[in-house]
Amino acid sequence: MSNTLILSIETSCDETAIAILSSSKNGIEILTNQVSSQVKLHAKWGGVVPNLAAREHLKNFPRLLEMALEEAKILPSQLDAIALTNGPGLIPALLVGTNYAKTLSYLWEKPLIGIHHIEGHIYANFISHNMEHGTWNKNAKCKKINKKTNSLIGNSLNIKFPILCLVVSGGHTQLVYMKDHLQYEIIGQTLDDAVGEAFDKVARILGIGYPGGPMIAKWATKFQKSNYKQNTNDDRLLMTDDKNSPQKTYGIKFPRPMLNKSNFNFSFSGLKTAVLYETKKFAMDFPGGSTSIKEVEPPRTFSKKYIAEVCHEFQQACVDVLISKTLKAADIYKPKTIMLAGGVSANKELREQLGNSIKKNLPKTFYSIPDLSFTGDNAAMIGAAAAFRWQKMTDVQKKKSKKNWSTIQANANLKMK
Ligand code: KG4
Ligand code: ZN
Repeated sequence: MSNTLILSIETSCDETAIAILSSSKNGIEILTNQVSSQVKLHAKWGGVVPNLAAREHLKNFPRLLEMALEEAKILPSQLDAIALTNGPGLIPALLVGTNYAKTLSYLWEKPLIGIHHIEGHIYANFISHNMEHGTWNKNAKCKKINKKTNSLIGNSLNIKFPILCLVVSGGHTQLVYMKDHLQYEIIGQTLDDAVGEAFDKVARILGIGYPGGPMIAKWATKFQKSNYKQNTNDDRLLMTDDKNSPQKTYGIKFPRPMLNKSNFNFSFSGLKTAVLYETKKFAMDFPGGSTSIKEVEPPRTFSKKYIAEVCHEFQQACVDVLISKTLKAADIYKPKTIMLAGGVSANKELREQLGNSIKKNLPKTFYSIPDLSFTGDNAAMIGAAAAFRWQKMTDVQKKKSKKNWSTIQANANLKMK
């Protein structure tokens, strides 16, 4: 079987991304993986501004495309197909990538494959590491083993169906059951906020920056329970950090929502509100503070110890719920592989604690996590999903997909099928 060359495009949120990959029976080789992040631009606003994101995509795309073709040393005529994220996501952002992709497909007369953004996140697990090109990981070796979690990162040969995938991103929290490639059954999902969204909102409450996920994870590492003494004195304010006071814990406890429900759904909005009330309660205790929870804004001058404990407890509440629901679902669905996908899968505690729970409770189940370089939004994952779609297409379907540029539409609420 000869190699299939796919150029893939991702613009569903605040990352403009283009990748070129070569897929063969030996796996997927990333020839180039270009990502231009707009995090700094949106940080000023505390979240992604859709129109700003679209403007940046429009500006970045041509240069990124040039760089991708240059690095992969590929001419457009050599490509077999173009893949794009056509949803879900922010519509102004999606429209830019979709229209560039449609134009390139028309101009270069190449098949066009629409990929669901979450399908891409899932297929980040199938990217193998035996590539020799690519600036992102020049020394990557095939079959990287993570000793802590016992997982074989990204080596798709070990991924056996059925798969139970825990999808955790800024827009989605789902448990997806896959009997085979490209077959998705959503067996549980969040009823309100996605877990990544909750991380971002809690970080905003604490005033620790954007995007919230990595910030909370970083602050949580500063909380070391063994060093803390239970103490009732209040030193949640910033200035008390410098007072050489003994380490204390505030005994903060947040709920584990939906933990005891028999379904596989999640809810994170109540947890976020619990954090808000915890910080507001503090604001009320503060001399001169308000007496009504509704009236007060949490102060942005929390002590480092307080922030660390809130972050640690909030993160652990999320991890506990995610692990418990995944294991519950695994008990019923009996998957051969449990997989993690989406931006929040970068979370070290989630990666390790889920791995340890699987090792302990389901030792025969393979645990797959995407390499850290593919957890956030990127185009390589979109290309990987497209490579599997391409493999399943007949020659007639492949030929017909050259005309997809006239029908594919960006869809903010695209459903995975
Ligand atoms: O998949 P993704 O890049 O974009 C969407 O498809 O939504 O996910 C972004 C989300 C953000 O909410 C971000 O805060 C979260 O992933 N995230 C993390 C970590 N890194 C990114 N959450 C927890 N811990 C992390 N280390
Ligand atoms: Zn994403």
